[in-house]
Amino acid sequence: MGLKVSSSFLCLAILLAVSSIVSAVNITRALEKYPEFSSMTELFAKTELTPIINKRQTITVLALSNDAIGSISGRPEEELKNILMNHVVLDYFDELKLKALKDKSTLLTTLYQSTGLGQQQNGFLNCTKSNGKIYFGSGVKGAPQTAEYITTVFRNPYNLSVVQISMPIVAPGLGAPVKVPPPPPMSSPPAPSPTKKGAATPAPGPAEEEDYADSPPGLAPETAPASAPSEADSPAPAPEKSGKKKMPAADEAEPPSSASKTGLNFGAVLVLGFVASFAGF
Ligand SMILES: *[C@@H]1O[C@H](CO)[C@@H](O)[C@H](O)[C@H]1NC(C)=O
Ligand SMILES: *[C@@H]1O[C@H](CO)[C@@H](O)[C@H](O)[C@H]1NC(C)=O
Ligand SMILES: *[C@@H]1O[C@H](CO)[C@@H](O)[C@H](O)[C@H]1NC(C)=O
Repeated sequence: MGLKVSSSFLCLAILLAVSSIVSAVNITRALEKYPEFSSMTELFAKTELTPIINKRQTITVLALSNDAIGSISGRPEEELKNILMNHVVLDYFDELKLKALKDKSTLLTTLYQSTGLGQQQNGFLNCTKSNGKIYFGSGVKGAPQTAEYITTVFRNPYNLSVVQISMPIVAPGLGAPVKVPPPPPMSSPPAPSPTKKGAATPAPGPAEEEDYADSPPGLAPETAPASAPSEADSPAPAPEKSGKKKMPAADEAEPPSSASKTGLNFGAVLVLGFVASFAGF
């Protein structure tokens, strides 16, 4: 019996170890479906932040599109790393939670603060609500609040959320500030470029136009600058993109939850085996 029982315990230990490896936070996996954020994924890897981020259990990444991140991607690696750490909030915020914030402004702690290098609040971000919009900026007093919340890209409550913002936040002390892009996304006309491109693309024209007509005007400016070029090449990305925006939470959260279900099933099998080995004796 001793042998049977101890081998059952060994099995249990191994299974528990394996299931605990399935982690809820994997920023690479969260973003791999969204090519418009591939530069950020690459820069997290280059600055060796990926494993540091993935070790966290509750995190919100303020994501920048490939276009938006261009203004900082060429900076020296150490500077870039600090700036990127300032885009990783050590708490969970998706659209629901951001909109539910009662205070006009809230200070958020970032990964940069956890390095102990923060000075004058530059390890914090200030999240400010104004005219129904949500802005992010450095927590340093008087720092500009110019990075606008665009959308929630990925959410796995309450472990990982990825929210897109309009431009990089460079806190005082972490590098030269990024200028606000000349045409602010909200004041540019909603859909001219996609419409033009849709009209130029022969076959799927109607479907595509319908798609844009359906989307609320607020969404259009964000779509236009980041993805217009790829749309011109092929009609395919359009549905995929609108699918992304409307993607229900359950869908996004699927991989981790199915992973944990698998873990549970393993556990159930194991318990059965454990019981069976006693019964066998
Ligand atoms: C995270 O996801 C990527 C892409 O799916 C995978 O290659 C990598 O092994 C995962 N990392 C961890 C720590 O699970
Ligand atoms: C997800 O977050 C919760 C609450 O912060 C934490 O207790 C849990 O361990 C996290 N899950 C994983 C797999 O990290
Ligand atoms: C956040 O920024 C706004 C606008 O600059 C400012 O009025 C507010 O005091 C700041 N909040 C905090 C907590 O620093």
